[in-house]
Amino acid sequence: MIFKPQAIIFDLDGVITDTAHLHFLAWRQVADEIGIEIDEAFNASLKGISRGESLQRILQYGGKAGAFSPEACAQLAERKNRLYVHSLRQLTVNSVLPGIRELLMTLREQQIPVGLASVSLNAPAILHALDLSSYFDFCADAALITRSKPDPEIFLAACAGLGVDPRQCIGIEDAQAGIEAINACGMLSVGIGTRLNEAGLQLPATEFLTWPCLSAFWQHDK
Ligand code: BG6
Ligand code: MG
Repeated sequence: MIFKPQAIIFDLDGVITDTAHLHFLAWRQVADEIGIEIDEAFNASLKGISRGESLQRILQYGGKAGAFSPEACAQLAERKNRLYVHSLRQLTVNSVLPGIRELLMTLREQQIPVGLASVSLNAPAILHALDLSSYFDFCADAALITRSKPDPEIFLAACAGLGVDPRQCIGIEDAQAGIEAINACGMLSVGIGTRLNEAGLQLPATEFLTWPCLSAFWQHDK
């Protein structure tokens, strides 16, 4: 049995801070402007999905797949991002979800490397706004990722950047697509929230995500 995981890899939106809701508000506005109505339930299916692919899913959902040229799609995605980035101004050091800063501090004390696997191109700016950048040893570059979750590409990139074996790591996610991505690379998966299938460990909220809890999960499953 290996006593500690080689690294813990975090998703960002919905795990470290509640930007999932801000993504929803920005997409809802853009969708509304082109006559498509989306709700929170549909938004759950966009978690972990890249900006461009999210737009395609919204167009399909609204029966408008193929209705916009690639240039028009790029403009819609850009508009959503402007709205989203504007809403990020409200983020402060107090916007970190409960327990996360404490967990990151403990992982530092335990000398466990920490990685980020977010497909958001805004991830570095968000970590900076939350004053959390220094806790991350490696952040996978979303600009280099060609396949959204549930493809494991971004988690594998985070493990490669840290120089660790995915099978010796834990991944933490709030999205179904993310849990599937973690499982696909042989990592142990921790799901935050409800209605997540196949999570190795499911916790209802981040406040339950503590090092003793992760350590017990690791020792039980390895
Ligand atoms: C993921 C979110 O983290 O990042 C998705 O769960 C989002 O909802 C994706 O679409 C891309 O984010 P951004 O900031 O690059 O548009
Ligand atoms: Mg997420």
